[in-house]
Amino acid sequence: MRKLKDIKPLEFKDQKLYVIDQLKLPSKIEWVELASYLDVAKAIKDMIIRGAPLIGIVGAYGFAIGIKEKIDQPDILKNAEDIYKTLKETRPTAVNLEWALNRMFEKLKNLLSENKNNQKIINALFKEAKIIELEDYHANKSIGGFGQILIPDNSNVLTHCNTGALATAGWGTALGVIRSAYEEGKNINVFVDETRPYLQGSRLTAWELLQEGIPHKIITDSSAGFLMSKGMVDVVIVGADRITANGDVANKIGTYSLSVLAKHHGIPFYVAAPSSTFDLNMDSGKDIPIEERNPDEVKYCGQCMIAPEESPALNYSFDITPAENITAIITEKGLISEINRETILKFFNKVVSK
Ligand code: MRU
Repeated sequence: MRKLKDIKPLEFKDQKLYVIDQLKLPSKIEWVELASYLDVAKAIKDMIIRGAPLIGIVGAYGFAIGIKEKIDQPDILKNAEDIYKTLKETRPTAVNLEWALNRMFEKLKNLLSENKNNQKIINALFKEAKIIELEDYHANKSIGGFGQILIPDNSNVLTHCNTGALATAGWGTALGVIRSAYEEGKNINVFVDETRPYLQGSRLTAWELLQEGIPHKIITDSSAGFLMSKGMVDVVIVGADRITANGDVANKIGTYSLSVLAKHHGIPFYVAAPSSTFDLNMDSGKDIPIEERNPDEVKYCGQCMIAPEESPALNYSFDITPAENITAIITEKGLISEINRETILKFFNKVVSK
């Protein structure tokens, strides 16, 4: 077994939250403090931190920071609602944010109903955020343990966006599976989609793989089909921002095209995600709010303009992969294969209505 490093994208110390500024990677590792809940909201919106699970975790800390800022003011519940709303509105697609904020709000209501003093409330909220962080880390290790079974020895694995330590509390979901397979001693090569326009693949995934010494090659997003047609891809594995009750998956734009290509070429297409990414209250992918970002992100690469200034651009950040294109979903509780409403609800012990 190989021993891998543990990369952490955040640190919480003495009730202060620090994160790696992911916009600066891979050129430099710069830690920044998010001192107020508005700092947290801005960091999520501007993608200083990103990745569905990490957005949830940082959102949870942000909620606790916000309550700490406002605890001495009258009507704490009204303030809590404003903090909740500000944080939730930062990015709409990843359900982990809403999930974590709901959990924090519930915790606050319970603490208030127990008449806890202000200091106890603050401490308990920070503790809850820490638990969310730790749960995510352990969920990722478990996803990796189950998922690595699906990665053959001596194989070429294609992945999209960044689903690694930088997108989570550590280790990662889809990239965590790749980490676990490599740790098990498997020989793998990873094809890393660059993932336009934010380049989470070439900037972040490649950086993580390099830290771990895992063999990889960055490819342009449009290379995937050609590589598949030449038999150069054995497995595709991606993460998720929201999985609905019928098994549809929202993930980084370009995921849907990969799933169609994989299906066409008979290549297994796996999704790795913790339970916090499932939205069982939502029926299908059609209902998922898809974030549309500033068109300038398409027209610029860093400071460099790469399109005519007058040309309009369209910048959807996510797409929907239909359940039928997915071979299996890997969760911290095990694998779900044959993806449909029935298998998903059964997996989570929910009653399946006919
Ligand atoms: O826009 P981003 O960088 O937040 O998008 C990230 C993704 O799409 C990831 O694949 C997803 O959040 C899963 S991360 C474990």
